[in-house]
Amino acid sequence: MRDFEPQDQLYLGACYYPEHWPEKLWEDDYRRMTDLGLSVIRVAEFAWTIFEPQEGIFSFDLFDRAIDLAHRYGLKVVFGTPTATPPAWLTHKYPEVLNVTRDGVAYQHGQRRHYNYNAPIYRELSARIVRKLAEHYSDHPAVVGWQIDNEINCEVNVFYSQADHAAFREWLKSRYGNLEQLNAAWGAVFWNQTYTDWEQVYLTRPTPSQSPNPHQALDEKRFISDSAISYVKMQSDIIRSFAPHQFVTTNGLFGHLDSHRMAKEALDFFSYDSYPNFAAIYPDEGPDPLLDRRWGFYLSLARDVSRRFWVMEQQSGPGGWVNRMASPSPKPGQMRLWTYQSIAHGADAVLYFRWRTAPMGTEIYWHGINDYHNQPNRRVDEAGRVGREFAKLAEVAGSQFQADVALLRDYDNEWDGELDKWLGPLTKQSELSWYKALQYRHIPLEIVNVGGGVQLDDLLRFKALIYPHAAILSDRTAELLSQYVRHGGQVVFGCRSGYKDESGHCPMRPLPGPIADLCGVNVDDFTLIGTQETAPTVLLGSGAVSEAIFADRFNDVLTITADDAQILATYDGSYYAGKPALVRRPSGSGFAYYYGAAFNRESAEMLIELLDLRSPVQGILTLPPAVELCIRRQPATGEEYWFLLNYSAEEQKIEIVSRHTELMTLRELSGSVAIAPFDVLILKA
Ligand code: GAL
Repeated sequence: MRDFEPQDQLYLGACYYPEHWPEKLWEDDYRRMTDLGLSVIRVAEFAWTIFEPQEGIFSFDLFDRAIDLAHRYGLKVVFGTPTATPPAWLTHKYPEVLNVTRDGVAYQHGQRRHYNYNAPIYRELSARIVRKLAEHYSDHPAVVGWQIDNEINCEVNVFYSQADHAAFREWLKSRYGNLEQLNAAWGAVFWNQTYTDWEQVYLTRPTPSQSPNPHQALDEKRFISDSAISYVKMQSDIIRSFAPHQFVTTNGLFGHLDSHRMAKEALDFFSYDSYPNFAAIYPDEGPDPLLDRRWGFYLSLARDVSRRFWVMEQQSGPGGWVNRMASPSPKPGQMRLWTYQSIAHGADAVLYFRWRTAPMGTEIYWHGINDYHNQPNRRVDEAGRVGREFAKLAEVAGSQFQADVALLRDYDNEWDGELDKWLGPLTKQSELSWYKALQYRHIPLEIVNVGGGVQLDDLLRFKALIYPHAAILSDRTAELLSQYVRHGGQVVFGCRSGYKDESGHCPMRPLPGPIADLCGVNVDDFTLIGTQETAPTVLLGSGAVSEAIFADRFNDVLTITADDAQILATYDGSYYAGKPALVRRPSGSGFAYYYGAAFNRESAEMLIELLDLRSPVQGILTLPPAVELCIRRQPATGEEYWFLLNYSAEEQKIEIVSRHTELMTLRELSGSVAIAPFDVLILKA
């Protein structure tokens, strides 16, 4: 039984670095934190040298004092294990712990995350520092939980040290047993890549035109993910053996990492780091960009990793390193808006990154709530406002995000799509198009990783599932989706579905492979739309298309193979004009849809109509496009909270049919109501 339940109230906090500041500032910092309504700090995730200044010599004094004082102010502490930044003495003495580029160049001391997960000595020294810390802090009354490392696979997510090559060989031996199987899985007969001794086998290495064997590249990503998970699990096993009453989490959502399996095997819950102003550097393309609102998509990914989650770092100022990621200051109100974006999407805690801007180092431009000068400022005021509001939101704790539609994803296709130029770019466009189309119609969406242990019951709560481009589609997943349809669900597939097996080979069978029967289609012919070509449009069966729908990027030319398969739309253009582009087949009480192209906003809108998807507040609230709707519901009572988030710099008008209480102000709202720029309303349903 834990003394502290990470989900029993909404927590507000900050990332704090006592080692960066004169000790005389700490008390004032803690006092002001509690005045602002902050109750949690995360500390120590980069401080290894402070704990172990020399190999095997340990010192806890500085953090003992920092944490004891935090405790006196009633602050709870999440303790970071400091393994993202090995000490200089360590990398100097044991250079084999360094990560290496594919070209063979070792990363050196001077930044962070320059280590690899497989060097035995790094594992040993990591295990020792974690054990020392867990032993020392397991009984500290302020320490409520642990963050393992920091942002696993951030900065770099490929690893080519000698230790990694060696560990990869062992990983392959246990996956394939012998070289014959390995050669078969990697299609090694092609271009004479056949291996005759395990010592010849490596992670991908430099090749002409940087084109590695695609099957090897896919296994490499699986291996990297497994390496990261086993490293995290090693740490979490140690912590749990000393501190079963403190929670274990880690933060961030990064590539080549099966975060779902990591969370299941090693964490109590997952944490995400949310920096919505990256939208200023990497905006989404096309009309009506989502910009910072797109972070709802990433929060949905985090929510699928663990339904209860924390935002361990929430952007609280302008951003950037000295050399990259330059981004503007959040406008007044935006920091608060993003805090509620996290909460609306299901987070139970939000910690601002960081309490105060670092006056030195690479991150001098990643601003915290407090500026270098440490004088009052608008961001501190905004944090205080949120702190006061959180005190009124007690009843929201424990409620969960609600949606009737889910977007399906899986790691195999994500990783395979990085190399596969016929696949990866499609997924990005299709996912964003669906997200946008649903967002602007105020239809909340879940994202579900369907590659793991998902069961039928997990899917039956959704009215529709969208699986845009499941190139690698196992028979198990195909069967699961067939059952879902038979039970009354609706599933939508896009082009390029079901044409690869688990190794990434294209088996000799008609497309779309394991879902051909479910959808009642065969793919007769297919083509990429060349960069100089215009995609054909799609003609709906009724002939009435109010807006042109372009069959983007790739076209599967379909034929129907079942009497009950219905052609809903045909291609209007190119050499396959008149051939089916969208087919629906009933099964049990549901329907499977196959669409032959990548999705864009217009085709997603068309399908939203066909699937009869509607906003859950239709008829109760009228919302303009700039306002996001998120719903959290209490599982026990069914009580609902409607979060209305205005992402625009303009005031927005909404219409409320009945009367509803706004939770932060306790105002009764009905009729025409204005939401100020970047403002938020939380209505009790
Ligand atoms: C996160 C990281 C923090 C800090 C922040 C701002 O990715 O965990 O340590 O670097 O970004 O750059």
